[in-house]
Amino acid sequence: MNKILRIDASPRGDRSHSRRLTEQFIKLWADKNPGTEIIHRDVGKFPPTPVSEEWIAAAFKPAEEQTALMKNQLKESDALLHELINADLVVIGLPLYNFSVPAAFKAWIDQIVRINHSFLFEPEDKQAPYKPLLVDKPTFIIIASGDAGYEPGGPFFSLNHAEPYLRTVLPFIGINNLHFIYVGYDEFGGERLEQSLNAAKQQIQQLVDA
Ligand SMILES: Cc1cc2nc3c(=O)[nH]c(=O)nc-3n(C[C@H](O)[C@H](O)[C@H](O)COP(=O)(O)O)c2cc1C
Repeated sequence: MNKILRIDASPRGDRSHSRRLTEQFIKLWADKNPGTEIIHRDVGKFPPTPVSEEWIAAAFKPAEEQTALMKNQLKESDALLHELINADLVVIGLPLYNFSVPAAFKAWIDQIVRINHSFLFEPEDKQAPYKPLLVDKPTFIIIASGDAGYEPGGPFFSLNHAEPYLRTVLPFIGINNLHFIYVGYDEFGGERLEQSLNAAKQQIQQLVDA
């Protein structure tokens, strides 16, 4: 377990709680596991390209029929997939935006969920036409929100379209080993935010220890 892919989806820098918590996760992990290699994909500061008509045409062409232009269209997707496939563990810092994931993170998802690379489509198999291709890996998702109570069992879980979405799309490509950590009250600040941050830090420490 020595290659970590860290993904930050907040466009904020030092003020981002999710970013500070992914940082903390990495630090604790690296202290415990010397020689850890970290790949940092900052989709918050450098959003992936949204898929285009040309991208779709290229992705759905068999590799042997792709032109040089088509291969070029898929370069970014190739690079993002390579990082994900090669990682032993993934840590994602995710702001809750309008009850779901930020658009920049959705653009990353659209680049890595790719036919014949992260899933197979076999229409003749009526029972299971879609088959995941990725090897499962522990994936830790830290969700930061302005309010609180979005976690399963919380009063606002029904408004949370980030965790249910990720519990659909990541297993679709083979990533099932998911752990969610919540930090809330950014918009309230004060003691409630402090308590929430401390609880998230404790949870991260426990997860790293385990
Ligand atoms: C565009 C936008 C949409 C947001 N939508 C929500 C929301 O639906 N629910 C919520 O509780 N907070 C919402 N917030 C607040 C953020 O989730 C909160 O500031 C969080 O701490 C952001 O993550 P970060 O600290 O890592 O940047 C929103 C903030 C922005 C900028």
